[in-house]
Amino acid sequence: MNLVNRRILLGVTGGVAAYKAAELVRRLQDQGATMDVVMTEAATRFVGTATFQALSGRPVYTDAWDTRVPNGMAHIELGRAADLLLIAPCSADFLAKIAHGRADDLLSTLCVARNRPLAVAPAMNREMWANPATRRNVALLHEDGLVFIGPAAGDQACGETGDGRMSEPDEIVEAVVAHFTPRHLAGRRVLLTAGPTYEAIDPVRGITNRSSGKMGFAIARACARAGADVELVAGPCSLGTPPGVLRHDVISARDMHGIVMSRCDHWTPDVFVSVAAVADWRVANPSARKLKKDAGQTPPSLEFAPNPDILADVAARANPPYCVGFAAESENLIEHARDKRERKRVPLLVGNIGPDTFGRDDNVLVLIDEQGSSELPRASKDDLAGALVAEIARRLKG
Ligand code: C5P
Repeated sequence: MNLVNRRILLGVTGGVAAYKAAELVRRLQDQGATMDVVMTEAATRFVGTATFQALSGRPVYTDAWDTRVPNGMAHIELGRAADLLLIAPCSADFLAKIAHGRADDLLSTLCVARNRPLAVAPAMNREMWANPATRRNVALLHEDGLVFIGPAAGDQACGETGDGRMSEPDEIVEAVVAHFTPRHLAGRRVLLTAGPTYEAIDPVRGITNRSSGKMGFAIARACARAGADVELVAGPCSLGTPPGVLRHDVISARDMHGIVMSRCDHWTPDVFVSVAAVADWRVANPSARKLKKDAGQTPPSLEFAPNPDILADVAARANPPYCVGFAAESENLIEHARDKRERKRVPLLVGNIGPDTFGRDDNVLVLIDEQGSSELPRASKDDLAGALVAEIARRLKG
């Protein structure tokens, strides 16, 4: 819930992508935002006002002469109440209007009268996006300090393919959340590991663990929101890559170790957050062929070899990044975590307070550093990730 106590005025203009604006209202509300919706007349040709009224639970405005606003000044009142004006979809015509300060309907008048930041998610045919007039308008709006979200490239409603598609609602939500997030890590490079590793027994079988990757991915997303350049080394998991994050997929602990060391050599991160549940052992001699289950044969026995400790190896480098380790313990968490912090020689160790953190959407974290320990109480992994990033940023500054 990153948008609690935030009020967003969503302007919907005339484009097929207006149907996605309905989903956008829901996703922004999921983050705690209060939504007011203003539509242009053209937008109502694509989606009815009733849809947005039902979703937002509030009146929808289309008309500068709307008498529901007590002082008759909808263009002032609605804009002043909002923390952000967001136009999605923003048509080529509407971009032109706001670039030139036109105020000939409620939404364009709101934009001219605003004293709040304005973000736009353009949506139009690729030729319209490439048109020199649109390019000039976009350049003017960049100069005016507008926040552009997208557009994306891909299949368009008209059957053509190219730039101009509206960004997906989740990407727009991410950009809105980032807009409100303090840029604690601006200019910092953060490398993370997340998820489980998979150690092969033979070509079809292997040993892994129940890590879902959710905590590590949430921290990667929070770092990107806080303005960092983020690279994420992910073991096998099915989560989507957070916007703005460069992802390296790996299978085994040794693969993960190789990529992390190479990124430390070539990219020199300022921070390393080791969230992955790395297998401590791998199968010493994995079979190149599938082990057969022959009747009467004794089952195979497995021999293990230790995996490299990625976190300890990063922390032991000559000029190490600020290292953050994780610990999941079933008992005596603080004692074990303190021990682990010293053994791995990392400044900050984060303990997951059980009972069963894997796969859950919430968690409790305990932070252990040289000062002692402090708790981040139970919250969603997303919220905890934001709080943890603020803690890391504070320690970096210190
Ligand atoms: O030693 P243990 O697995 O309990 O330590 C957990 C911490 O160490 C986590 O931050 C984990 O990502 C990291 N780790 C690692 N490489 C290993 C084992 C753990 O980076 N081989």
